[in-house]
Amino acid sequence: MSIGVQAIGGVPVTTRLAMKMEDSLQAFAVRAACFIGELEVPFSEEFDGHDYGATHVIAYIGDEPIGTVRVRWFKSFAMCERLAVMQRFRGNNVGSLLLERCRKLAESRGCNMLYTQVLPADTGYWERQGWQRLVPEAMSSGPKPIVAMVKRVDPNQPMPEVEAPEAIVLRREPTLDSAGMPVGAIAN
Ligand SMILES: CC(C)(COP(=O)(O)OP(=O)(O)OC[C@H]1O[C@@H](n2cnc3c(N)ncnc32)[C@H](O)[C@@H]1OP(=O)(O)O)[C@@H](O)C(=O)NCCC(=O)NCCS
Repeated sequence: MSIGVQAIGGVPVTTRLAMKMEDSLQAFAVRAACFIGELEVPFSEEFDGHDYGATHVIAYIGDEPIGTVRVRWFKSFAMCERLAVMQRFRGNNVGSLLLERCRKLAESRGCNMLYTQVLPADTGYWERQGWQRLVPEAMSSGPKPIVAMVKRVDPNQPMPEVEAPEAIVLRREPTLDSAGMPVGAIAN
């Protein structure tokens, strides 16, 4: 898939993986502006405890971070989430560029399926990026209805069989105790 964004106003747009704390802070700053500031997502929901086990992809115009997406790695899929582009830079395919970078990253790691959970109102955006619904209906996983969507990493291969799709559609992260263990688990 070719993505038609290389420059905005003559300044190159690039993507990079967060490699050090400062990079992660740039991803968090973009998410704070878009999700907490603009979309009024509560801080505790946005920063859910999974950021330090995830890969962050960041888009830059010159040296300025303007977009980000988080990828978490599961056994049979890579989960893309927290996709955000600063409002004033939208409509330049930066979102598409970030998702394509995720796809290539997943490909390089031998992963064959991308997975995401989106709000019903956002499914049109993802379908335009070549994603499809895993199951037709929205599900409830927490307070908001979500739609599970998937995309093949290699568009020339058939969609991998998903075992027990409802198990991942409704996947909920365990609540962690103060030691970082799932509540109810026995710590040693
Ligand atoms: C969704 C988002 C990342 C897209 O970033 P972007 O860089 O503008 O995306 P692209 O340039 O690749 O695509 C823009 C196109 O998607 C459309 N689009 C944006 N959000 C959409 C949505 N929720 N539903 C349907 N289409 C949408 C735009 O209207 C635009 O259409 P056009 O090309 O016909 O003008 C950005 O709008 C954003 O950060 N939104 C707030 C955060 C958010 O809601 N994230 C959840 C992921 S959907």
